Amino acid sequence: MTARKILVTSALPYANGAIHLGHLVEYIQTDIWVRFQKMRGHDCWYVCADDTHGTPIMLRAEKEGITPEALIRRVHGEHSRDFAGFHVAFDNYYSTHSDETRHYANDIYAKLKAAGLIEVRAIEQFYDPVKQMFLPDRYIKGECPKCGAKDQYGDSCEACGAAYAPTDLKNPLSAVSGAKPELKSSDHYFFKLSDPRCQDFLRSATREVCKAQPEAVNKLQEWLGEPGDNKLTDWDISRDAPYFGFEIPDAPGKYFYVWLDAPIGYMGSFQNFCKRQNLNFDEYWAKDSKAELYHFVGKDILYFHALFWPAELEHAGYRVPTSVFAHGFLTVDGAKMSKSRGTFITAESYLAVGLNPEWLRYYFAAKLNGSMEDIDLNLDDFVSRVNSDLVGKYINIASRAAGFIAKRFGGKLLHSHTNDQFRADMPGLMEAAGEIATHYEGRDFARAIRQIMALADQVNQYVDKNQPWVLAKTVEHEELLHTVCTTLINAFRLLTLYLKPILPKLAQRAEEFLNVAPLHWGDAGHLLPPAHSINPYEHLMTRIEGKQIEALLAANRESLAAPAPPAGAALPEPHSPQRHAEHQQHAAAAEATAGSKEPHISIDDFSKVDLRIARIADASHVEGADKLIRLTLDLGGETRQVFAGIKSAYDPATLVGRLTVMVANLAPRKMKFGMSEGMVLAASDVDDKNAGLFLLSPDSGAMPGMKVK
Ligand code: MSP
Ligand code: ZN
Repeated sequence: MTARKILVTSALPYANGAIHLGHLVEYIQTDIWVRFQKMRGHDCWYVCADDTHGTPIMLRAEKEGITPEALIRRVHGEHSRDFAGFHVAFDNYYSTHSDETRHYANDIYAKLKAAGLIEVRAIEQFYDPVKQMFLPDRYIKGECPKCGAKDQYGDSCEACGAAYAPTDLKNPLSAVSGAKPELKSSDHYFFKLSDPRCQDFLRSATREVCKAQPEAVNKLQEWLGEPGDNKLTDWDISRDAPYFGFEIPDAPGKYFYVWLDAPIGYMGSFQNFCKRQNLNFDEYWAKDSKAELYHFVGKDILYFHALFWPAELEHAGYRVPTSVFAHGFLTVDGAKMSKSRGTFITAESYLAVGLNPEWLRYYFAAKLNGSMEDIDLNLDDFVSRVNSDLVGKYINIASRAAGFIAKRFGGKLLHSHTNDQFRADMPGLMEAAGEIATHYEGRDFARAIRQIMALADQVNQYVDKNQPWVLAKTVEHEELLHTVCTTLINAFRLLTLYLKPILPKLAQRAEEFLNVAPLHWGDAGHLLPPAHSINPYEHLMTRIEGKQIEALLAANRESLAAPAPPAGAALPEPHSPQRHAEHQQHAAAAEATAGSKEPHISIDDFSKVDLRIARIADASHVEGADKLIRLTLDLGGETRQVFAGIKSAYDPATLVGRLTVMVANLAPRKMKFGMSEGMVLAASDVDDKNAGLFLLSPDSGAMPGMKVK
């Protein structure tokens, strides 16, 4: 077999927030795949970095009274610590704020410009005259132009779900300084994605880049449309000072937008690694490279990786990725991670309460199948799965055999044990190596684990059938006991090898116990040598206890009074790259305005609102609307149509028949989809959009049409 040259990346986490379990879905998944490739003997390198640029990082540093450089240095330390704690073994964990990344950002920009793919255009944007900076959409608040709801962000209304431009907001205010923003024109640099060269290239290339995932191919199809649709608009890659990032070489006061240099950070990190390891950078990145290049990313940033990034690389004369592997989002107990429920769990807190990182690695692996589906961490299932599979089925095999080998046979395996005998006693266990490897290669870790655990079941049946503890009672069974225990130790070694990409630390300790060199995949083709000595067994893994999970939730539960936590929250699936880019800014913007108290209202003000009990007579999806559900509300005789922005939290079918509370005297509003004649009430966390949305219900006995006061 010839060694493949493989370069693997995970997305670069933003340097303004803590690593949480959602992130770990990605880094653990990538790490497992890389470890597998290394065990196969390939030249596989895994690089990553902190994504350090952008307005939120600049403002956060300012708020903490430190320089952005100091902030990103501190966060780099925290992130490195968290990844190491979960055994995520990067070959290099670097920073986008580096000479290498700057070099390739300038280089790619210059080449795109030379190719005629950069255009300068003046655009009008809101400007904060106090803070003297242009404001990203998420840093502008005002009244929704559609429904008039107060305190809405510059891109969409959380009350009615309308999407709009920040310039549409009524009475806009800067979320940074509170000042009234002014419209101001400025030159921006655009990457001309609308150029036919880009469109044509992407239509052929991205299908290839996403071929591993049919769902991703469909998404791309949707974004690209049919030839001639011209759906791709030019991409704004510059931001005006003040900005924390790289200044554009020939444009003083203009900076590369964070998403321009972020993926270039993959190159920067790898270049930095090459220098230290004496590797040839070009062998991996030149246009004619024979090496493989893979990016693991969340589905929220597929757009950047499957469209913008390959287009940049192609037209700057570099190779394009072999594949982009997108994954879904983590939910905890079936819901988005939530700060109020304590399920927004940081990597740090997980380790601090004493939970074993390999439990989580195992659980995630058992759920990951290489698709873009969301994955759920069900906490009860987590406990029972780890305890029954890892401890109950796998670890127990070693503990059941080791004692006899140590006490009865001087720590040595049988001198005459053969492959044939093993194959007869453990059919399929050695032979499974090929199939399990195929599942790892295809990122279907769930399937690999199902197969490994079925093999472990078979080993345990062998134990039950041969009952070594009974054999141990009579001297004439000595030889048989030795055979059985030797078979079990060999079986344990093979299972360890198969699980090693997922459980690297445990495998290392098992290797010490087995007294063997680090296991490689090829070692599955043979057994331990006859009369091999093993070391005394020390318990390899304990069970999870329920109270550890309680401690974990308590450690992460934030009371309503607590200050807003750092950005980097679970992201809802965005529908445009712009939307995603603004999300990291959301938390920072919320922080900037935190503390503003609502003034009191009089009882008369309150009684102007006609609140009524309504029965949801019908509920349906609205074609073309991301957030809305169409409700037909029964007010006890009268019916109303209302468009409610609750699609992220409810399936229409489950709403029909239930009672809720509506504002019955809201002025009717004409929406794109029809008239909305009122509003239903739902609770949500002011600071944490991801905490969920909860429709109000009256106590039983309330009837449609009743007044609420
Ligand atoms: N900085 C950008 C990526 C730049 S890559 C050139 C970014 N950072 S992030 O910190 O928000 O996310 C890092 C990765 O973690 C992304 O791939 C993202 O999809 C993933 N996840 C963040 N939260 C997640 C969940 N709740 N669940 C699964 N993956 C999640 O995006
Ligand atoms: Zn609105």
